[in-house]
Amino acid sequence: EKGNYRHFMQKEIFEQPTVVAQTLQSYLRPVEQRVALPQIDFDITAIDRVTIVACGTSYYAGMVAKYWFEQFARVPVDIDFASEFRYREPVLQPGGLALFISQSGETADTLAALRHCKQEGQTIAVVVNVPTSSMAREADLLLPTHAGPEIGVASTKAFTCQLAVLAALAAHFAVKKGKLNREEEADIVAHLLEAPACLNAALDHDEDIAAMAHLIAPARDVLYLGRGPDFPLALEGALKLKEISYIHAEGYASGEMKHGPIALIDEDVPVICLAPSGPLFEKTVSNMEEVRARGGKVVLISDAEGLAEAGEGCMATIEMPKVHPLIAPLVYAVPVQLLAYHVAVAKGTDVDQPRNLAKSVTVE
Ligand code: M6R
Repeated sequence: EKGNYRHFMQKEIFEQPTVVAQTLQSYLRPVEQRVALPQIDFDITAIDRVTIVACGTSYYAGMVAKYWFEQFARVPVDIDFASEFRYREPVLQPGGLALFISQSGETADTLAALRHCKQEGQTIAVVVNVPTSSMAREADLLLPTHAGPEIGVASTKAFTCQLAVLAALAAHFAVKKGKLNREEEADIVAHLLEAPACLNAALDHDEDIAAMAHLIAPARDVLYLGRGPDFPLALEGALKLKEISYIHAEGYASGEMKHGPIALIDEDVPVICLAPSGPLFEKTVSNMEEVRARGGKVVLISDAEGLAEAGEGCMATIEMPKVHPLIAPLVYAVPVQLLAYHVAVAKGTDVDQPRNLAKSVTVE
């Protein structure tokens, strides 16, 4: 039931601190400051390549995970949309882990890709929210997200829970491969445990975001920019907006703007920049300046430090708590979800049941 919320999507956005905490609980041992995965019946240290396959929002969670696997475990990661993967004759070498990410565990393209990888002798790991699903049953390693039932067609809490599981998996993998020492592992655990409180702090800005929805609602096109592990969040933000408000939106890696998309910029195309302060901040700000110099209207999503440095001259700003880069993709999911939500409400669309879409896509 929706309780005091107007839509399931809204309720599910607000459940995130709780369900991410729940999910982390089964993957972390806070007292020992260790990552703790379920029993793994294969030699994880022998895995020398990871292939991630998923669709939609789950695919974007996989894109974030690629950064983590490569950074922590130094293992090469290949990632593809399930619908593409299946038909491009991928080269799958023995010793590979194929990792499937799905809220429903029933998405036809992802399931077909899973079966293909199984046939090709890959070890199969799945991150799924429905523990009784087909993917869960067919996996060698089942990594459940504990988001609870997700009713809104637009995926929200499943995404942040997927990120929580994937961060723990990447860290565990890195520990087993000897790429992270005890101290580094403890550090990662501590930062992941900060996520629920930071998600709450992000949700505190709900009203500010609602108040600026009218700036985006009239737009015909919207661009989202991000860098590094926050680039997939730009894609996710654009997908959320498209799905429920029917506004055309695209996400780009900030540095790609000058290679083409900047030609689209004028005062009618809002540009949403996801830019936590940190090592990549200056670069994103210079991309933002390029947009502004061409009359573009920028919405900057950053922390107090970032907004103090670059917030002036923006059409609007959304303040996020200052977070460790590891959990930024979880925390920055909140403002893009809320922005899409409030724009859709302003436009009067059917938020939970957007046109032409089904919750689970069980046809290829
Ligand atoms: O159940 P799955 O995670 O496999 O679903 C994948 C996509 O169909 C899904 O994420 C879709 O893109 C959502 N509607 C996004 O909000």
